[in-house]
Amino acid sequence: MTKFSYQNELDDFKATAHWLALRGWSEAAGGNMSIRLDAPAKLHENDHIKLPIDVPYLAGKAVLLTGSGTRAREIGLDPLPHIGLYKISDDGRYYGWIAGNKTPSMELPAHFAIHNTLEQHRPGDKAILHTHPVSLIALCHMPLFNNAKAISDKILSMQSEARLILPEGIGFVKHALPGSLELGLKSALELERHHLVLWQYHGILATGETLAGAFDKLEVFEKSARVYWQLRAAGLDPCGISEAEIKHTLKAFGRLERY
Ligand code: 13P
Ligand code: ZN
Repeated sequence: MTKFSYQNELDDFKATAHWLALRGWSEAAGGNMSIRLDAPAKLHENDHIKLPIDVPYLAGKAVLLTGSGTRAREIGLDPLPHIGLYKISDDGRYYGWIAGNKTPSMELPAHFAIHNTLEQHRPGDKAILHTHPVSLIALCHMPLFNNAKAISDKILSMQSEARLILPEGIGFVKHALPGSLELGLKSALELERHHLVLWQYHGILATGETLAGAFDKLEVFEKSARVYWQLRAAGLDPCGISEAEIKHTLKAFGRLERY
C-alpha cells in the first residue's frame, strides 16, 4: 500500500471514528467520512476514472475518503489502512486513486457531489461525515416528520441552544438508493444552505471545517432528538420552546437572519 502523510487529517479521522463507534452511530461498516485537500500532485492520464458527474470546483484537488466496508471502531484505532487518497483531474471530470485504501466508500458519488457544492458555497467546510444514529433514523418513521421544516421546528425546539447552533434547521432527502448519484445530488442541494441533511430511513450527513466540527453539529441535533424520544417514551407529546422564544434567542445572538 502506498502511504501518505496528512497527519492532522488522519488524527481527525481517528478521533471522530473513535467517537462514532463509542456512540454506536456507525454500526458494523455503517457510515463514511471524507476530507477535501488542495493537492499539487498530478494524475497519470491512464489513472483516470470517469466521475458520475462533473465536479468543476474540485478540479486539481484531492479527497481523503474512507474505504468501503471499513469499520469506525477500527479506523478509531489505526486510520491509515482504511483511508484512500484520490485526486480529481484538472478538468473536474475524472478521478484517480493515489495512495492508501483502494476501495472507496459506496457513497463516493455523494461525497464528491457535496465537496463540489461546498467548495462553491462554503469553502471553509472541508469535512463530510455520514453515520446512522438510532434516534434520527427513528424520526423518519413518524409520518409527521416527512419534511425538513417539520423536523427542524420540532426537534430543534427541544433544547434552548440547538437552534442557535443550527439556525437554518436541517435538510431532508426522501428515501433514495444508498450509494446513488440521486442521493448525492439531492444532498448537495440541501447542503448549500444547511450543515446537516437527514437521509430518510438511512442516517445523517454533516459538514464542517473538520470532522470534529461536523460531529459537533450532529451531536447537538442528535441530543435534541433524544430529548424528544425520551418525552415520547414517557407518554408526552412535547410542544417545545415557542417560536417567539426561539426567535428572541436567535436575535440576541445575531443569528435571526439565518432562521
Ligand atoms: P461504505 O462502507 O461503502 O462507506 O458504506 C456504508 C454506508 O453507510 C453507506 O451509506
Ligand atoms: Zn449509510
